[in-house]
Amino acid sequence: MKIIRVANAEEGGKKAFELIKEGMAAGAKVLGLATGSTPETLYKEMVESDLDFSNMVSINLDEYVGLGGNDEQSYRHFMNEKLFNKKPFKDTYVPNGKAEDLTAECKRYEEIIDSHTVDIQILGIGQNGHIGFNEPGTPLDSLTHVVELTESTINANKRYFEKVEDVPTTAVSMGIGSILKGKKMILMAYGEAKADAVKGMVDGPVTIDMPASALQNHDDVIVIIDEAAASKL
Ligand code: PGA
Repeated sequence: MKIIRVANAEEGGKKAFELIKEGMAAGAKVLGLATGSTPETLYKEMVESDLDFSNMVSINLDEYVGLGGNDEQSYRHFMNEKLFNKKPFKDTYVPNGKAEDLTAECKRYEEIIDSHTVDIQILGIGQNGHIGFNEPGTPLDSLTHVVELTESTINANKRYFEKVEDVPTTAVSMGIGSILKGKKMILMAYGEAKADAVKGMVDGPVTIDMPASALQNHDDVIVIIDEAAASKL
């Protein structure tokens, strides 16, 4: 893993943007994208840039079960608002959280991943070490699946909802194995709340107890962190 230390999320967003720009200049066509507060500074850079994404394909990591694009808390809505409405892509994929047959939806999504190899995968990390919504205990070779969210994740995400009871308890997420199919990983983490997870990801054993530690098995991972997130390294 290559670690890049930055002063703050703004600088981290600029750094990640530079890496995407270089990747696109070198032929990258498929971006794996993430939601949450972490990638927001990156999306701001993308929106404010003069880069053209209209030939690019994006594949998002996950979506809450039961929410669709018209629901403001859905990840489809988040992506439309933060990026796609302002910078059109050729195709944008987000799991369909309203699919009637979720097993079929997971299979369909994995086929999308297999037919569009992700060139650059953007990742955040949960306080419990999750990547995507792959909570501790998820097999490291897992493919797209339905996940039960942990209390830690529900609490971390309740800020987006009126009350904690409104946070969906299940989601469709690319598996750890699906994520690792991407060619290059860029994981960003900011703030002290991420310090333990960053430590486990970088220095800890590769274990299902720390999903992000699976990134040690990938040969092209760039970690962009501020001093607070790096404080336990
Ligand atoms: P955050 O979430 O960017 O909102 O901190 C990251 C994650 O849970 O993966």
